[in-house]
Amino acid sequence: MTGEGNGMDRDRVVRVGLLGFGTIGASVYRLIQKEHDRILEGTGVDLQVAKVLEIDATKVPAGAPEGLFTDDFSQIVDDPTIEIVVEVIGGTDAAFSFLDTAMRRGKNVVTANKQLLATRGEALFTLARDEKRHLRFEASVAGAIPIIKVMRESMIAAGLHTVYGIVNGTTNYILTHMYNDEGDYAEILARAQELGYAEADPTADVGGDDAAAKMAILASIAFHSRVTLRDVAFSGIENVTLADVRYAKDLGFVVKLVGAARLIEGGVSVRVFPALLPQEHPLAAIHGSNNAVFLQGEAIGEVMLMGPGAGGVPTATAVVSDIISIANTKDVGFLQSCSCYRSLGFYPAEEVESAFFIKMDVADQAGVLAQIASVFAEHSVSIARMIQKGRGDEAELVLITHPTRERDFSAAIEQTRGLVCCKSRPMTLRVL
Ligand code: HSE
Repeated sequence: MTGEGNGMDRDRVVRVGLLGFGTIGASVYRLIQKEHDRILEGTGVDLQVAKVLEIDATKVPAGAPEGLFTDDFSQIVDDPTIEIVVEVIGGTDAAFSFLDTAMRRGKNVVTANKQLLATRGEALFTLARDEKRHLRFEASVAGAIPIIKVMRESMIAAGLHTVYGIVNGTTNYILTHMYNDEGDYAEILARAQELGYAEADPTADVGGDDAAAKMAILASIAFHSRVTLRDVAFSGIENVTLADVRYAKDLGFVVKLVGAARLIEGGVSVRVFPALLPQEHPLAAIHGSNNAVFLQGEAIGEVMLMGPGAGGVPTATAVVSDIISIANTKDVGFLQSCSCYRSLGFYPAEEVESAFFIKMDVADQAGVLAQIASVFAEHSVSIARMIQKGRGDEAELVLITHPTRERDFSAAIEQTRGLVCCKSRPMTLRVL
């Protein structure tokens, strides 16, 4: 029933310029071909990929339609019939320049680029507002999970104060398989690379940068205040050992790379770190390369969304949904304007409270526990649980603390390092 009905502009041709034909770009192209008729039936949009910019000739598929591919951006930006430019090339400099030029030349834009938005988002959103252009970015966070739409639209009255996310599939895959005792960090990472779950250079994933950029985007939307990548304190999973994961399991916890964005006393706190989650926490059940975002708000209690967070086809669904949304929105409206309408301060990192997991090698002698407990007591760090395993005249001591301020905890750990009984630098992880 095209061409009739609900007052929409039916069977409207919408031509798209696609920047990049890597994993996501190729998936976007194929998904648009595959779903063309269904999209037309369902939305009245006759979606066509008019041009694809790809400078790497080896990525151009054999048998591609004549004239579809170009290595010249001007063939897209100078074409008045192209309404929407989709950026899936990654990186920040060229991508910024393409989107900036496209918006100045009257195009609406869609991007999947979290690093770009988390570092130079403000300039792009300001330009979109000034030029009255759409800048959509659903695919930048958590692949197929429609978290941007949900947070910007559905949660507008939710009073969000906390966003916890498992927003990196590579690290969740590695930690899931370590939890299942299938190998140590290096073994599972190698397997993830063989299976194509992890990049050949996995630094941005395992080091926490990728999750930090995504959390900066989510926090900016949740709290309506700009958070950039520089504002996110992050650490990765490179130092998490199989022994840590096994101890955590013995104590009833799962280790995950967690993004934590919170409003604390009116200040914004955004961090990414490997953390212990109680096995009954909803995020503890997110396995393999899946992602999840767990929201808490005054009006909603708790809401969690989960699903595939990476991969070409799942991510392409988010890109296509942005294209269709733009095509069906006449007025750029509030979804065009940046959601950051206020400027909140940041809550000091050293004041944030959390419980901690500590693993330390100590001498197995009378009085050692008393010395450590006394240092902790001096800094108001209270011990909640403990496991000790002997190894000759040394022991491995694993402690879980009650919630404590970062500043007090760091001071206590620093002081234990001066004790003769403590044999090495303790491993510490936060507990959510
Ligand atoms: N490399 C990311 C991940 C997906 O492993 O989740 C793209 O952001």
